[in-house]
Amino acid sequence: MEETPHRRRAHTRSSDLARYAGLFAARTGVMRSSAMRDLMAVTARPEVISLAGGLPDTSTFPAATFAAQMTRIAQESTAEALQYGPTEGFAETVDCIIEVMGAEGMLPDPDDVIVTTGGQQAIDLICKTLVDPGDVVVCEAPTYPGAVPVFCSYQAETIQIDCDEDGMRIEDLEAVLARLDGEGRRPKFVYSVPSFQNPAGVTMSLERRRRLVELARRRELLVVEDNPYGLLRFGGEPLPPLYQLDGGDFVIYVGTFSKILSPGIRLGWAVAPPPVMEKIVLGKQASDLCTSTLTQHFVREYFSERRWQEYIADLIGIYRGRRDTMVAALREHFPAEATWTEPEGGLFIWATLPEYIDTSDLLAKALREDVAFVPGQAAYVDESRGRSSMRLNFSGVGDEEIREGVRRIGRVIAEQVDLYKALTVAKGPEGSPGTPGREAEDVPVDEGAVLPFRKKESTG
Ligand SMILES: Cc1ncc(COP(=O)(O)O)c(C=O)c1O
Repeated sequence: MEETPHRRRAHTRSSDLARYAGLFAARTGVMRSSAMRDLMAVTARPEVISLAGGLPDTSTFPAATFAAQMTRIAQESTAEALQYGPTEGFAETVDCIIEVMGAEGMLPDPDDVIVTTGGQQAIDLICKTLVDPGDVVVCEAPTYPGAVPVFCSYQAETIQIDCDEDGMRIEDLEAVLARLDGEGRRPKFVYSVPSFQNPAGVTMSLERRRRLVELARRRELLVVEDNPYGLLRFGGEPLPPLYQLDGGDFVIYVGTFSKILSPGIRLGWAVAPPPVMEKIVLGKQASDLCTSTLTQHFVREYFSERRWQEYIADLIGIYRGRRDTMVAALREHFPAEATWTEPEGGLFIWATLPEYIDTSDLLAKALREDVAFVPGQAAYVDESRGRSSMRLNFSGVGDEEIREGVRRIGRVIAEQVDLYKALTVAKGPEGSPGTPGREAEDVPVDEGAVLPFRKKESTG
């Protein structure tokens, strides 16, 4: 094929920046980049072992199934699959969504559902609908790193509530709500990823789920439940989603096909009460008119085979094994004072190192060793938090790479620990924590963080 001519722009100069800066909207001043997107550029290098992405293992999807479904679409529905579609999504896609939600005990009204371009767009549209600059949004600490840039873009004042092994601490949430009451303020919503949270891997207990829903109903407070991982459970007992406990009055639900089928198809959804949904639909019309009709056809074909739950069962088996591999590697290669979560589902482990190690600095060193993770800072709006933590993904690469990746990260951590020990001993008797003889093992982990913790026994 003949190469299309194109022009490569020279790097942006400060004079270029000045030319455009006066035109930018105020919100661009507080926009933040998604840490994962930034990292993707680096981790695209084939030699890099990436434990950074939130990538499901799409290599396990049978190519023959994909080919057969796309062929069927071409034979039977080319014109419709290449055409615009309704903003709310096709009724057949909504049927598939109802089936997925039914598998976790939820029974939404199809009229309350909108098909979105991934769960990410659902979060964006919910903010577009509800958040004015300065409004309060409450979320977990740490929270989904991809939600942070959304809250920032809409200029929300984001308050993060600490998590422990049972998810968001509801008594802390109550204290924050009481403080806001005193100021005459009320959050627009509470955002939570209750099951196998991204990034911490923790799951909100049933008792806390009930308390959160009860609190939402009593205060008429909206809760946004983001649940990409609920069906990816490989240990413990299933728990009811908040949406099920509430019945859909105060819980707005966000779902996605990304982790149970494919993120490349960019299909997610939101479920909201009719008055909220009406505004979300208007917001989506302005954003992108409709979600890809081609991939909606793909989902319809895929679900008609009735094997979608079998595929999830396969993924669960794979991810359980990889979680075990990562936990074993962490035990072998991370220092004794490191802690980490041991999730019963989902894709992520959250590890915390001694507080003198900054994981953003560590990442720069790790990348030189061709290994990547997400620094904990990305999961906080206040970037001074999460500095000694990291998110590690165990779903996107095989066992061997997990072992090797963790070994390499362990090696750069060990260098930092040695350096710290050498410096603190050299600093002499006055310095604290520089007292001679004080071992790095005695140094506390970040006291400010409730997470992570380490379960001594493996769960699963
Ligand atoms: C908690 C959470 N919400 C939303 C998303 C966005 O997913 P998508 O836009 O691919 O549906 C992700 C992806 O990792 C996630 O972990």
